[in-house]
Amino acid sequence: MAPRLGPDELAAIVNLHEFEALARARMIGPNFDYVAGGSWDEITLAENEAAWRAYRFAYRVLTGIRTVDVGGTFLGRPSALPVAIAPMAAQAMAHSDAEGAMARAAAAAGIPMILSTSASMTPEAVVEAAPGMDGMFQLYLVGDLGYTQSLVERAAAAGYRAIVLTVDLPVLGYRERDRRSGFALPSMPNIEAAPGADRGRYGGLDDQRSMGLTWGDLAEIRSWSSLPLVLKGIVAPEDAIRAVEHGADAIVVSNHGARQLDRSLATADALEGVVAAVDERAEVWVDGGIRRGLDVAIAMSLGASGVLVGRAFYWALAAGGQAGVERAIAILREELEIALPLLGCGSIKDVRRELVKG
Ligand SMILES: Cc1cc2nc3c(=O)[nH]c(=O)nc-3n(C[C@H](O)[C@H](O)[C@H](O)COP(=O)(O)O)c2cc1C
Repeated sequence: MAPRLGPDELAAIVNLHEFEALARARMIGPNFDYVAGGSWDEITLAENEAAWRAYRFAYRVLTGIRTVDVGGTFLGRPSALPVAIAPMAAQAMAHSDAEGAMARAAAAAGIPMILSTSASMTPEAVVEAAPGMDGMFQLYLVGDLGYTQSLVERAAAAGYRAIVLTVDLPVLGYRERDRRSGFALPSMPNIEAAPGADRGRYGGLDDQRSMGLTWGDLAEIRSWSSLPLVLKGIVAPEDAIRAVEHGADAIVVSNHGARQLDRSLATADALEGVVAAVDERAEVWVDGGIRRGLDVAIAMSLGASGVLVGRAFYWALAAGGQAGVERAIAILREELEIALPLLGCGSIKDVRRELVKG
C-alpha cells in the first residue's frame, strides 16, 4: 500500500479527479470498488458527472468585479463555500482517523460535514475529534424506532444542527462490484448497537432497511428533536412538493451517488424541476458527480443553494488524511475564485440561470 501523501505531494495536486488514482493505490481493492461503484450497469454513475459537463456558460464581461465572495449558507449558517461533505459510510476504510479526520478538515476549511449513521465512529466521538465542526447527522432507520430516536437525540445533544433523513434507501441497490468482490463493510458502531442488528455484507444495513417508510412517518421523526429536517434522495418534483408540505427545511436532489436505482435521472437534470416545484419554500441542495468548481457554479445557477461532494472527499481522505481533504476543499475554493470573475459575478448568489445554457 502506498504511503500517505506529504505536504509537497498534496500541493502538487491540481484537481479533484487526481485523488481517485491516489486513493486506489492506498485502499484494498474491494473497499475501493465499494466507494467507486454504482449499481447495476453504472449508467447513472457516468451520467451524474457527464450531466454537469454538458452545460455551457454565456459569461458576461466588463462587469467591474474587483473582489469575489465564494461563501455560501446551509440552513442560514454561513459556510466558507457553498459545499458540504456528503454523508458516507465507514470512512475507516480510507484512513484510520476516519470521520474524525474528515470532520477536522471540514472544520479547518469552514464547511459543514454530514455524518452518516453508518459511520465508523459514533456522533459523540466525531465531535470530540473535531470540536469546532459544523456537523449535521444523516439518519437511517436502524433497529427499531426507539433506537433510531435515541440516535437522533444523541446527535442533537452532541451539537449536530440538522437531521438529514435519507429517503432513497428502502432497500440497497444492486451493486455488482460488491457481489463479485465479496466486499463486507467494517465495523459501524451506530448500526451494530441497534437491537437485532445482523452483520451481513453491509454490516446490518442490508437488514435494517427502511422499506415501508411513508410521508406519514416524517412527523414522528421530526418530533424526536427540535432540529431542522432535511430529506436526502429526491429527484421527482412531485416528491419535492410533498417534502415541503411535510415541513422539510431542505431537500437534497440526490440519487445516492448512483448507488441505488441505476438509470435514475442524473441529478443535474433533475435539479431545475425540483427547484421550480419547491418555489423557495425550502433550501435545495444537490449532489452526485460534482468534481469541479465549475460544477458548483452550474448547480448554483440552476437554483441550488448548496452542493454536497461525496467520493472526491473520500478519495482525498484515503490519499492524504485530514490534509488531503483540506487540499481538495482548497482546490474547489480556488476554482470558484477564478470562475466567478470570469463569469462576471462578484459572489455565488450572482451566478444566475441566464449565465448557463443547456
Ligand atoms: C462510499 C459511499 C458511502 C455512502 N454512504 C452514504 C450513507 O451512509 N448515507 C447517505 O445518505 N448517503 C451515502 N452515500 C451517498 C452520498 O451521501 C452522496 O449522495 C453521493 O456520494 C454523492 O455523489 P458523489 O459521490 O458523486 O459526489 C455514500 C456514498 C459513497 C460513495
